[in-house]
Amino acid sequence: RNIVILISGGGSNMAAIVRAAAREDWAARFKARVSAVISNKSDAKGLVFAKEEGIATAVLDHKAYASREAFDAALMQAIDAHAPTLVVLAGFMRILTPGFVDHYAGRLLNIHPSLLPAFPGLHTHRRAIEAGCKFAGATVHQVTAELDHGPILAQAVVPVLPDDDEDALAARVLTQEHLIYPRAVAEFLSATK
Ligand code: GRF
Repeated sequence: RNIVILISGGGSNMAAIVRAAAREDWAARFKARVSAVISNKSDAKGLVFAKEEGIATAVLDHKAYASREAFDAALMQAIDAHAPTLVVLAGFMRILTPGFVDHYAGRLLNIHPSLLPAFPGLHTHRRAIEAGCKFAGATVHQVTAELDHGPILAQAVVPVLPDDDEDALAARVLTQEHLIYPRAVAEFLSATK
C-alpha cells in the first residue's frame, strides 16, 4: 500500500515518517511504504532527503497554474499515479480546494502546530506566547474542507516556558510532531487493513 507525502519545506515530519516506515516491524505489520514525496516548492529541502532515500519525488509549482483548481487537479493526477492508501500533508503550505479534499476524503491527514481547535491558521507559536498560554503543542487531524478543523487523531502537549520565544517553542513542538505523526500514520494503517 502506498503513502504519498506532500511537503513545502524542510520536510522533517516527512523524514520522521520515512524513517518509521523503513523499520522492518512496520513493513511486516502494515505492508505500506512511502512511495512518493511531492512538493509545490522546487527548493524544498525535504526533496533532497527523499531522493537520498530513493523515494520518487515530484515538484508542482503552484505559480505555474492559472487557478487553485487547476493546480489541485494536476496535484491529484501526480498523487493518483501512486494509487495511495493515504495522503499525508507534512508542512505543506497550500490551502486545498474542496474538490481535492473530497477526492481524498478519509485518507488525508495533516499536522498542525497547535492544540486544535486553538490557534488554527498561521503563526501559532507566536500567538500562543502572546496569549500567555502555559501549554502548546501539535495536532494530527483528518483534513476536511474547513482549514485546520477535521477529526483529531493525535495531539502532543509541551510547556510554554517564561523566556520562550517563537523559535524555542517551535523547536519544542516540532520534536513532539516527529513522535506523534509516525504513530498516527501507523494507527491509520492498522485501522485500514
Ligand atoms: C512545522 O511547524 C510543522 O508544525 C508544520 O510545518 C512546519 C514545518 O514542518 N506542519 P516540516 O519540518 O516541513 O515537516
